[in-house]
Amino acid sequence: MPKMSRFFSYLPLIVYLFASFKCNEEDDPLVYEMDDRVVDFTTQGKWLIMFYAPWCGHCKKLEPVFEEIGKYYKGKMMNIAKVDATRFVKAANHFDIKGYPTIKFIYGKTNVNFFGERRKGDLIEFIKKADAPRVSRILHQLDFENTKHELQLFFVLVIKKEHMNSTIKNEFFSLAEKHFLDAYFYFALPEHVVKTAKVNDSPRVGVIKDNELELWDSSKSTMEEFVKLEQFPTFCEVTMTNFYNLVDTKKTLLILLINLDDHSKLHQTRKIRQILKIYAKTQKEAYHDEFVFGYSENHDLISGIAIWSLSTPCLFILNTTSFTYNLVNFLDVNSQVKDFSVDKILDDFRNKRLENYGGKSIFRTIRRPLWEIYRAIIEMFLEAPIISLFIFGLPFGVISIVFYFLCCMDSNDQPENEEVHDSDKEDEHQYYLDEASKLHEQIKAKEFKNLVDGEHKMIKIPTTSKKDQ
Ligand SMILES: *[C@@H]1O[C@H](CO)[C@@H](O)[C@H](O)[C@H]1NC(C)=O
Ligand SMILES: *[C@@H]1O[C@H](CO)[C@@H](O)[C@H](O)[C@H]1NC(C)=O
Repeated sequence: MPKMSRFFSYLPLIVYLFASFKCNEEDDPLVYEMDDRVVDFTTQGKWLIMFYAPWCGHCKKLEPVFEEIGKYYKGKMMNIAKVDATRFVKAANHFDIKGYPTIKFIYGKTNVNFFGERRKGDLIEFIKKADAPRVSRILHQLDFENTKHELQLFFVLVIKKEHMNSTIKNEFFSLAEKHFLDAYFYFALPEHVVKTAKVNDSPRVGVIKDNELELWDSSKSTMEEFVKLEQFPTFCEVTMTNFYNLVDTKKTLLILLINLDDHSKLHQTRKIRQILKIYAKTQKEAYHDEFVFGYSENHDLISGIAIWSLSTPCLFILNTTSFTYNLVNFLDVNSQVKDFSVDKILDDFRNKRLENYGGKSIFRTIRRPLWEIYRAIIEMFLEAPIISLFIFGLPFGVISIVFYFLCCMDSNDQPENEEVHDSDKEDEHQYYLDEASKLHEQIKAKEFKNLVDGEHKMIKIPTTSKKDQ
């Protein structure tokens, strides 16, 4: 029987390959370029689909990532595809595509959008979570140990067979249904977890983290609060994928902003990260109710909140209710790591001895659009330096020419019959100026469109704590 279902899950592709006269296995692309027929194909098997627009820069950046995903899932029962949503309107309407790129995982009734960081690892993690049963069953002790080893973090319901009708079990299962993209959920018998912890009462809900079982205390929080607060590893990487959930904890975020590509400070960066990581893992009691520790390589995300280009490595301390932040620098003038103690940083923070930046003030409201223009220009130069030079150079060039002629006219006493000529020239200048500004507007509009459709989301301060689903 599994053989049969395997066959059926490939059936759409087989049909597709025949239809496109691509019977040769060698020609099998890693990512299928699909058309409107994707609507029918997705009724069978598992699909990860990117809906793109040909002009969208963020979609182009995603192509190599998709190729990687294609490679990863080659020969596994997962179809990786992309659809030009501007051409195949039927498919775009069917799947309600509103922006580019939209990434969807589709399998049976599951049809979920990906909102995270567009990296290979994040996408694979997304597929795994979306594809897993909402609550998986631990089969035996070894299974539990293996799962612990494989996942590092998951929620578990420890429950005796005779309690399977309890309200806690129902609540756990419906939470899993709601939060399946945030974490993994399992249930196990008490004897399965005995090597990790002795759980005497049944049922109990807990989280496996740092190799330990931490049990939910119903007198302190609701089960959902517990899931929302505990879904992060002790020293987690902060990305677009988990950022809104981190803000949702309402705790203060301590994010070490790093740049591992900066080789001149790599050694220092690693050292600081190690110190913070060890603190986070060993001193939980000292901070757990107030802070979440993490690190991030996503400068766009962090600088977008700060509305400032931050130098790395630095500790970005974010108040998740007011969006004010503090910065701690670790390097001295010679780029060496200063002596620092995490306890002292926390103490300084608690006693408000660190300088405040940010917040939702008027100043920031004004600065944000300027920041976004600045970001757009930087991005333009990074993506198309020559065209950008031309675009920004042209107005300068034209203005210089205008000034040049203005000066010449001032210094020379022109004969009267030149007047006609001058006005011609002015017309010409005006023409160039108009053309230049038109071109500039066009490019700007396009760049902004890309920005709005793509990463733009991530440089907005979330005004509500709800994840936009
Ligand atoms: C759970 O409830 C169902 C009906 O609500 C019942 O048929 C079943 O026997 C119960 N199971 C246990 C283990 O109590
Ligand atoms: C965060 O900001 C709010 C509003 O300014 C303030 O009341 C709160 O104490 C701050 N939180 C921390 C942990 O400093």
